[in-house]
Amino acid sequence: MPDAPILELEKVSMAFEGKQVLRNVSLILHHNETYGITGPSGCGKSTLLRIVNDLLSPTSGSVRFQEKDVREWNPQELRRRVVMVPQEAKMFPGTVRANLVWGLKVHGMTTEDEQLKAILREVQLWPIDLDGNAENLSGGQKQRVAIARALLLKPNVLLLDEPTSALDTDSALAVEKTINSLLSDHQMGVLIVTHNKEQAERFTSRVLELENLSEAS
Ligand SMILES: Nc1ncnc2c1ncn2[C@@H]1O[C@H](COP(=O)(O)OP(=O)(O)OP(=O)(O)O)[C@@H](O)[C@H]1O
Ligand SMILES: [Mg+2]
Repeated sequence: MPDAPILELEKVSMAFEGKQVLRNVSLILHHNETYGITGPSGCGKSTLLRIVNDLLSPTSGSVRFQEKDVREWNPQELRRRVVMVPQEAKMFPGTVRANLVWGLKVHGMTTEDEQLKAILREVQLWPIDLDGNAENLSGGQKQRVAIARALLLKPNVLLLDEPTSALDTDSALAVEKTINSLLSDHQMGVLIVTHNKEQAERFTSRVLELENLSEAS
């Protein structure tokens, strides 16, 4: 039986106050696939991820997750399954532990410290004081907490917006390895925005290059 796409974007267009940002973007993401998105600053990469997560509604076109339009999903259920790691790794006031389990808590799920330790090891952030203040972490540490927070939800689709931009190469490679093993374990699909050509080459199977519509004539 052919493998149905996990995510399907069909002619997605977006304009903000009349300014066209995305035009007719189509892509198909399969299980166990990492799909890269590149393009100049301001071309709409983050906007595209927000549309996939139904945080924004496109001006036209559609997004289907597991063959159902994202607008027909219960938003909370959708965002447990299609999880975004935003471009700015935002920490909430509180401890590292509270920040890690934040997503789980929103969805009424819990976890043990052992599981937190395991995921932190995978993103090369162990040892760390789970009771320390998350706002005192470095940019790269926050980025890894944000990735771990998303992975703990065991998403079907992971939306990564420049997830390793603040990491050294070794940490970035460790994060990629973790995501790769989750891909095959959970039949997940990944959309990753990256400016890093080497990362795109080693980590993604296909790349969509968006153009800056405001600069194109
Ligand atoms: N909520 C919004 N209201 C109005 N304009 C917006 C909104 N969100 C994004 N834009 C505009 O849409 C364009 C695309 O923004 P977006 O953040 O998607 O770009 P990007 O490709 O992610 O850029 P970068 O590489 O710098 O992160 C920009 O011109 C931005 O100002
Ligand atoms: Mg962006």
